[in-house]
Amino acid sequence: MAEFEPKIIAFCCNWCTYAAADIAGTSRIHYPANVRIVRVMCSGMVDPIYILKAFEMGADGVLIAGCHEADCHYLNGPLKCDAMFEKIKRVVNILGLEGERLRREMIAAAEAPVFAELIEEMVKQLKKLGPSPLREGVKV
Ligand code: FES
Repeated sequence: MAEFEPKIIAFCCNWCTYAAADIAGTSRIHYPANVRIVRVMCSGMVDPIYILKAFEMGADGVLIAGCHEADCHYLNGPLKCDAMFEKIKRVVNILGLEGERLRREMIAAAEAPVFAELIEEMVKQLKKLGPSPLREGVKV
């Protein structure tokens, strides 16, 4: 039987974390192919519905990553994201999902190795947890 390969949906801010992922790719910094990146303009615009939809569609883990607080192009995006994250984490727990399946990080464009390490760490953690209990065989 093939080893379980978790699927991660990463909502990444265009200006920083998306750029970090892009630079990781062009710099040939290896990271697992388990992640599907959704580019958003700011971490503060990630709607909680996107996160729930990702889990509903079979994601084993979800990452919301954006600029460090002082670097946000829209000023208060990270604060807005943090507030949303605290609320959605409670909802995710109520749904019976382990809190480790949902991550919130700040990764600048110059931190491509940090992005790669984070994805590697998430994959390891999700492999330990196993498939999401909400997974219904729907491909992400
Ligand atoms: Fe990147 Fe707001 S522009 S988090």
